[in-house]
Parts: sequence; structure tokens; C-alpha cells
Amino acid sequence: MYAERVLSGMRPTGRLHLGHYHGVLKNWVRLQEEYPCLFFVADWHALTTNYDSPQVIEESVWDMLIDWLAAGVDPSQATLFIQSRVPEHAELHLLLSMMCPLGWLERVPTYKDQQEKLSNKDLSTYGFLGYPLLQSADILIYRADKVPVGEDQVPHVEITREVARRFNHLYGREPGFEEKAQEAVKKLGSKRARLYYELRTRFQQEGEETALERAHALLEEAQNLSMGDRERLYGYLEGSSKMILVEPEALLTHAARMPGLDGQKMSKSYGNTIFLREEPESVTKKIRTMQTDPARVRRTDPGDPAKCPVWQFHEIYSDDDTRDWVQKGCRSAGIGCIECKQPVIDAVLKEQAVMRERAQPYVEDPSLVRNIIADGCERARKLAQETMRDVRESMGLSYS
Ligand code: TRP
Ligand code: SF4
Repeated sequence: MYAERVLSGMRPTGRLHLGHYHGVLKNWVRLQEEYPCLFFVADWHALTTNYDSPQVIEESVWDMLIDWLAAGVDPSQATLFIQSRVPEHAELHLLLSMMCPLGWLERVPTYKDQQEKLSNKDLSTYGFLGYPLLQSADILIYRADKVPVGEDQVPHVEITREVARRFNHLYGREPGFEEKAQEAVKKLGSKRARLYYELRTRFQQEGEETALERAHALLEEAQNLSMGDRERLYGYLEGSSKMILVEPEALLTHAARMPGLDGQKMSKSYGNTIFLREEPESVTKKIRTMQTDPARVRRTDPGDPAKCPVWQFHEIYSDDDTRDWVQKGCRSAGIGCIECKQPVIDAVLKEQAVMRERAQPYVEDPSLVRNIIADGCERARKLAQETMRDVRESMGLSYS
């Protein structure tokens, strides 16, 4: 019933590195061409774990946005904004908190995991428990149906689906729903109405998913329906409530796992990163001094790429010929490690040169980024306000 829409967010907790580029941003860049996309800076989410050091967040916000732009996220295609500048997220979070069972939040795996992992911080706070619910509000407020996330975030999308379902069940029951829905069916015209009932029966009695899909297609084609009737007809297909909030789906990012300089996953906490817009000299030095197969003590010792983190970089950055050259040269001690690293250095620098160039105007004139965000916040806010109108009304909060 609602247009397809992609939404994703990132916490501003420091400079972005190549892991973010290959794991997340490249995917966003691809998606922005296919769908209407909203990408936002999740500054409130960053506060749930960094409430004692908010400076880091403040410092990271604009730099992170420049990194996004450098990676090719395009403000003329996607809407970019900052979470805290759309306060409706907080209102929806509060309202959802009224009906979200405590147990749902306590059972989210990241809750205990993160508390253990960040044991130097006291994360037994109200805000941290609510982290996934705030994320639900982020998603539901835009009626986004697609949420690109990494595997660790899938439980958060899952709880969002449950929250949406519960919300629709609790607040989507308007008095006389059944009658209103039947009136709306008539407006489809007799032929379509008959088909609608037939498909509804097939879905409700036989659980036929294809019948549901066909019915959705039928409603999409029906031009003369009001917003309200359209929602009723979608809700009536599945049960007896209006669909006020839309259940989203996780879009799992199947990105290549970006190795760090030591062969482990690239991550700030391992100190094995190359920053997105790092100086070429510094990048060159980092790769030159990277660990290689420990068996290659002398230049004449043969090695095994499978035991070398540099090989993992070749897997991401090199073509077949170069990889072949590495495999043969390493195993036969035909090439040295410095020689082997050069194509990687060249490829990383080339990738970064493009990004630095894209970033240049924004670094020189920060007001450009401020304007992009002002624009994005305004657009996001309009969408958020539309949803909040429906939410307030269905919860009985639109007194007049
Ligand atoms: N929790 C996400 C992360 O740590 C960030 C995030 C916040 C998010 N709100 C979101 C991602 C909504 C997708 C949709 O990566
Ligand atoms: Fe690693 Fe290349 Fe050296 Fe082999 S030659 S150990 S793959 S850096």
C-alpha cells in the first residue's frame, strides 16, 4: 500500500574506515539508485552507549556525513538527515514504549552481549534497554519496508516487525471496521470486488501467500480509493485491523568481509583500520608494514597466501592476473612481500583518491553539508509528521 522505501542509520562514534565503505556505504550507493532512500545519523543511539562522552558524537557527526558523501552517497537521490533533528522519532519511541513488553527488549541478543562486551561502562540504563525500540521508531515512522543492515542488527528489525504487528492489532481496530471495509470493497467495482473476496478467502483459509500478493497488486491498481479505504482493504485482507504501521524487512548486506591490517575483521576496537580518507603516505606505510605469512622470514623462503592478510586484500582489490601472480610468486619465492603489496597499495590509493576528491568541496565549505542536512531533515520531518498524525489519531491523542 505504501511505496517501497529504504531506511538505514549509522551511529556517529568516530571516523569511518574502509570496512564501513565495503560493508555498508557501497551498498547504500547501490540502493539509492533503485529505491527512495533515507539515510540518517543515529546520534541518539550513539548516546545510549556514549552518554558519558558526548563530545565524540558531536565531533563525528559532520565528518561522518562527509565520509558518506565521499563514498558516493548522493543527496540528490537519497535523503540525508540527523535523527535528533526529527524529534518525532522520540515521540513515536515514547508511544511505542507504552505497549512494548519488557521481555521483548530484554530478550534481544545485543542487550546482554553489548553489556558484557562494554563491561567498562554501566549499560544498565533505561535508554540502553530501549535501544531496539528507538530503532523501531526510526524505521516505522517512515513506513520503510526495507532496512539494509548487518547480521547483528537483524534481531532489531525482527522486534520492529513484532512491534508494528502489535500496534496495528491494538490500535488499528476502529469501530465499525468490518462494515467500513465492506463498503470500501464495493468501491472496487463488482468484478474486482469479487476477485478481492476470492483472494482474501484463499489467503485466510488456505494461507496462500500468492493470493495475498495478487490482492495487493489489485489494490495497487485501484485508482479511486481514498487513503483510509486503501488501508482498510489492506488490513481486511489479513484480519480485522487497519495497517497503520508497516512491517519492515531486513535487507542483509552480502558484502565481502573487509579484512583489517592484521587479517581480523577491520574494526576500530582492533586498531587495524585504514580510514576512508586517510593520507596516502600513512596508508602506504600501514600496508608496507603489514604482517605477512610468518613462514617467509627470508626473501628466499616460499610462503602461502592463505596464511597472509595481504592475500585477503588481493581478494578484494586485485584482478585474476594479479592474484595468479601472487599465488605463483609467493609459493615459489619468486616475488618479495614488498613487491606483492604494491598492487594493493596502488588499488587502495586509487579508491581513496576518488573519495578524497568527492569530499574536497565539503571540507572546504562546511556550509554545503549543513545545507544538505537542513534540506534532508525537512523532507524527513514531513514524512514523519504524516505517520505521527495517524499514530496519534489511532491512539486517541488527536483531541480537538
Ligand atoms: N543500530 C544500528 C547500528 O548500530 C544503527 C541504527 C539506528 C539503524 N537506527 C536504525 C539502522 C534504523 C537501521 C535502521 O548499526
Ligand atoms: Fe603475503 Fe604476498 Fe608475502 Fe605471500 S608474497 S606472504 S601473499 S605478502
